[in-house]
This record gives sequence, C-alpha cells and structure tokens, in this order.
Amino acid sequence: MATILGIESTCDETSASICIDGVIHSNIIANQTVHEKYGGVVPELASRAHQQNIIPTVDQSIINAKIHKNDIDAVAFSRGPGLLGSLLVGTSFAKAFALAKDIPLIEINHMQAHILAHFIEDPKPTFPFLCLTVSGGHTQIVKVNDYFSMQLLGQTLDDAAGEAFDKTAKILDLPYPGGPLIDHYAKTGDKNKYSFPEPKIPDLDFSFSGLKTSILYFIQRNVKDNPLFIQNNLPDICASIQSRIVSILLNKLEKAAHLTGINNIAIAGGVSANSGLRTSLENLGAENAWNIFIPKFEYCTDNAAMVSIAGYYKYLDKDFITQDITPLTRWAL
Ligand code: KG4
Ligand code: ZN
Repeated sequence: MATILGIESTCDETSASICIDGVIHSNIIANQTVHEKYGGVVPELASRAHQQNIIPTVDQSIINAKIHKNDIDAVAFSRGPGLLGSLLVGTSFAKAFALAKDIPLIEINHMQAHILAHFIEDPKPTFPFLCLTVSGGHTQIVKVNDYFSMQLLGQTLDDAAGEAFDKTAKILDLPYPGGPLIDHYAKTGDKNKYSFPEPKIPDLDFSFSGLKTSILYFIQRNVKDNPLFIQNNLPDICASIQSRIVSILLNKLEKAAHLTGINNIAIAGGVSANSGLRTSLENLGAENAWNIFIPKFEYCTDNAAMVSIAGYYKYLDKDFITQDITPLTRWAL
C-alpha cells in the first residue's frame, strides 16, 4: 500500500491530492481570482494566496479521501518550473510535512506531471507516445519513452499557446485568463470569417508572437473604422483566432508523428481543455489511424492529481529527495 499526498503550487492554483496505490481519491483545487483585473498573474499576490490556501486545501484533500494524515507514506510536490514565490509555498509545506511525519519527499517536474496525468485513468497510453503539452507557460512536443524518460522534440521560440490565447483575449478586452473565454465565444462563430497567417518555423518548433501582432493590427485597423467592431463580431473573431492557433499546433504534431512513426498521440496542459483543439485532434486522429489520448477537463489545467500520480510512480522506484532542495523556476524535462 502506498498513500501519496501531492502538492501543486507552480503558478496561481493551490492544489492537493491523495493517491492510494495509483488511484486518485481526492483532488482539491483553490483557484485564485485576484489576478483577473490585472490581465495576468501577479506573482506577489499569487504567493500570498498560496500561503492562505495551502493548509485548508491539504486538509480538504485528506478529508475527501477519507484517510488520516498519519496514513500518508510520502509527499510529492511540484518543484518547478514556475513562479519562485508560488513554488516556495508548496516546497516549504511539503518539506515541513515530510520532516514532521518522517516520511519521504518526492520532487516532481510540473511539465512531466501534466503528461503523467494520462496515467490517472484508463485508457492509459503505451510507451512510446508523443505528447503535445500546451499550457500558459510552455508549448512542447515530447517523445515519452517511459514515466520519467522524456525527450523534447520541439518547443515554442517565444510565447506559449496559452499566452497566445490570453494575450489575444486581452486585445479583445476579455479578462484573464482569456483562453476559456475565446473557446466559449468561438463555439458560435465562423472560423473562416477572418484569416490570420501561419508562421513559417523550421523543424518541430513553434512561434506565436507574430500571430499576436497580426491580430493586434487587424483589431486596431477595424476598430478605427468601426468602434463596435469587436462587440459586433466577437464569436467570428474568436473562432478565427482559435482555428489558427489549433492549426499551428496540430500541423507540428502531425509532422512529429510522421517523423517518428509513433501513432500513440496525447495532448496535455491547460490549453488541452480547448474544445476546438480536442475536436480537431479527434478528426486528425481518425484520418491518420492514431490512438488518441485526451485528458478529462479536470486534469488539463493545473491540479495536484497529476502530481500525486507522478509521485506514486517515483515512490515505486524509491526515487526520493533530501530536505536541502530548493525550487527550480526553470527545469528541463
Ligand atoms: O496548465 P495550466 O493550467 O497552467 C500552466 O501551467 O500554465 O494552463 C493555463 C493556460 C492559460 O493560458 C489558459 O488560458 C489556458 O491554459 N486554457 C485554455 C482553456 N482552458 C485553459 N486555453 C484555451 N481554451 C481553453 N478552454
Ligand atoms: Zn501547468
């Protein structure tokens, strides 16, 4: 028997989860709404909110799992990549808990955890598989050889896919985080109404900053002639932007599948909650006879279930870490 407490605090979600023998028994997430009015995550405010939320979130995860805190065999925590002040809260809590209970401490790479969310429920992918990990801070195509053996095949050279959504949403005067709102308005819009350029980037890398600039100029041009342009065309604008971001992502993923000959294809990270991306991947998968793996919505955006399941696999390997570690704001896969 192995009962793992997972802790997530890399950005603006405080989350705690209990995993018992590879099965998730609780996954509590405290969202921070304080950032909405600032148009992005304010690191100082994020760390303060983590400090307030961490104890109640952990308590609730233990209650929901119907265990006692003495039942926990190890603590797994996201050591990075992320915001330093946010990471310090989760790291310090995990270290203190492990020290107090005299149990092992397990470090988890947040980007690996997003990918390992696929091992929470069936169907689980078989190795090797390709994963397009798309979040607010990262856009990566990863060849996953084993639980903790991952190879980066391509990544963004500038903005992440989530930033492309959030920054264009800001141009449209939508609050942070704008990704889910663009997704919402896109559902009733015509994706062929406006056309935005696809960047010509070599290999399996991505770029989104040019797209953001072209959308900014497009909006400025149209609003000059018609101040109500955004209000009157929001669904069509959102559908057209989303369609372009999705095609940029999937064209590279298809290229990666052809180059590697791998036909087990997964997506992960906050942007994998996007309905346009999910539907387009299903269609592309059917065309190419791929085995497709799309996480449940609750395991796309930041959560501790993915940390506790990753912690469970490290626990089986006895892959523990000492008390003298500190967070890593940047951390390769
Ligand atoms: O993985 P995540 O929760 O946090 C990071 O590790 O960054 O990803 C957050 C990102 C944000 O940029 C957010 O706008 C985006 O995921 N996102 C979406 C959707 N849901 C979350 N983007 C597009 N469509 C969505 N439905
Ligand atoms: Zn994340």
